[in-house]
Amino acid sequence: MCGIVAYIGPKQAYPLLIKGLHRLEYRGYDSAGVALMHDNKICLYKSKGKVSDLEQYISNKDTKGNVGIGHTRWATHGSPNDVNAHPHYSMSEDLVIIHNGIIENYATLKEGLSKRGYIFKSETDTEVLAHLIEDIQKKGNYNLFEAVRLALSEVVGAYAIVVMSKNEPNHLIAAKKGSPMVIGIGENEFYMASDATPIVEHTRNVVYLNDEEVALIEPGNDLRIITVGNHEITPYIQQLQIELELLEKGGYDHFMLKEINEQQRSIRDSLRGRMDPNTGRISMAGIIDFEKKFLQARRIIIIGCGTSWHAGLVGEYLFEEYARIPVEVEYASEFRYRNPILYEDDIVIAISQSGETADTLAAIQLAKQKGATIFGICNVVGSSIARATDAGAYTHAGPEIGVASTKAFTAQVSVLALIALALGNKNGNLSETAYRKTLTQLDRVPEMVSEVLKTEEVVKRLAALFKDARNFLYLGRGVNFPVALEGALKLKEISYIHAEGYPAAEMKHGPIALIDEQMPVVVIANRNTSYEKIVSNIQEVKARGAQVIAIVTKGDKEVTRLADYAIEIPDIDELLSPLITVVPLQLLSYHIAVLRGCNVDQPRNLAKSVTVE
Ligand code: G6P
Repeated sequence: MCGIVAYIGPKQAYPLLIKGLHRLEYRGYDSAGVALMHDNKICLYKSKGKVSDLEQYISNKDTKGNVGIGHTRWATHGSPNDVNAHPHYSMSEDLVIIHNGIIENYATLKEGLSKRGYIFKSETDTEVLAHLIEDIQKKGNYNLFEAVRLALSEVVGAYAIVVMSKNEPNHLIAAKKGSPMVIGIGENEFYMASDATPIVEHTRNVVYLNDEEVALIEPGNDLRIITVGNHEITPYIQQLQIELELLEKGGYDHFMLKEINEQQRSIRDSLRGRMDPNTGRISMAGIIDFEKKFLQARRIIIIGCGTSWHAGLVGEYLFEEYARIPVEVEYASEFRYRNPILYEDDIVIAISQSGETADTLAAIQLAKQKGATIFGICNVVGSSIARATDAGAYTHAGPEIGVASTKAFTAQVSVLALIALALGNKNGNLSETAYRKTLTQLDRVPEMVSEVLKTEEVVKRLAALFKDARNFLYLGRGVNFPVALEGALKLKEISYIHAEGYPAAEMKHGPIALIDEQMPVVVIANRNTSYEKIVSNIQEVKARGAQVIAIVTKGDKEVTRLADYAIEIPDIDELLSPLITVVPLQLLSYHIAVLRGCNVDQPRNLAKSVTVE
């Protein structure tokens, strides 16, 4: 969480920082701030609220400066207010710092600094770091680069920081551990940011800092990197591949709606070049390299958080059915603290859109220590998780900006389906006919998604009818049980309506007690092997007075007659159906949230990339 951005070079820093902060706002939006350096003076502006509030606040202020740092915050230490907003000054106000992460030993460090006369204005862990760097500089007469390195050697926890000092105005210092940091290298200028989105329109040459690396960033000189342990590192410069137009709303009211509508393309992009339904060939570099390991795997353990965990649950059905490989799916946050039993012939698949989720990253480290092979499914190229895994396959969904994940989910499920099909074909579990047929279906999913998107007007009307409901229940069976969870999560996240996802048959063991006339129940009831069972489940909820919204297969008669409202989707192979059943649920939550006046792209208390525990 928290987005950081910085600039040093010949241009005016402020407009670049504000634009960059808007791009990074998905990472946190409870307060924001910038510090600008001009004529060896630092001007610092910060305020509670969103980046637009900061912009408003600064509108009549002095924003001169070719060097600057900016921050958008998701509070961890201290409530979101003006004082706790970043940047933070050191005691003398000679240096300022922005920080993403958590300094775990901040209390001990703070105590020592307080004893040495340092006064703290905020409740943040970051201010500790500002004072610590200054203290080290004073005690040892160190330059800023060295002082930052020494300070970081005392720090336990996660950080991505940029430090600016009016005593050393020709450079900035950046460092990272656990939280991401990208440095863009331009013509006699440098950009720094939590991800590449603020950088890509200025330069495509970037360096991703690795953990415990500290960089000296000075226009006119090459980028210099040392480790916290004081070893010189040669920077590895990479080329960014992001498409700029995907970072804009492109005529849609919200990123979420744009991203829902992009799914035809994002699923296609995630499959492109990896499968050919005509030849029956699936070719994925990450799988080819690890094919033997996959085929001999004792188990597959899938880890992830939030929506990525839901994609993992779908993956369980896909792997077990297509390839008959046993699968366990776990929340990364539970897995990492559970002393799990892992074998060397286990494969751990880590799923993450951002590739930065702290719990998933920590779970990967644990699995690595225990000797398992780690396969990553990430959306953000070059992200920490992508780099921490042994092999992997990117989802090519393009940047996902809306905090509620949509196109990342369908891209993840598409990639999981491809891998499961490839393994089922190789290990002989899937007959050639079944394999070919499923591959042809998978190839048709993008066009089915555009078909489902045409239901938007119907969904909008339902949203208007149900926008004031206080609770929702989502029911699904089999591979659509995780879709019920995902539908409920979407609604909770952006409309703040309480919603629960449940396996339809399990409902009678509890949630049925909640059902009355006030409770809308969304049932995923497309044609599948448990169709008759779900018909009975609908009867059960109808008997208790619930209003039923059913997702049905085009032409369906029975459920359509039983339910109060039906949304039709194309007929599709059962195991691939989550790729399209989820779409109306995404639209429903979107339109309900809009009608309730909620901030769809930046829901309260949430952040897109959760880089803290
Ligand atoms: C946050 C986001 C969710 C996301 C989850 C996991 O909670 O708000 O949308 O599903 O993190 O993120 P990841 O980037 O690892 O998929």
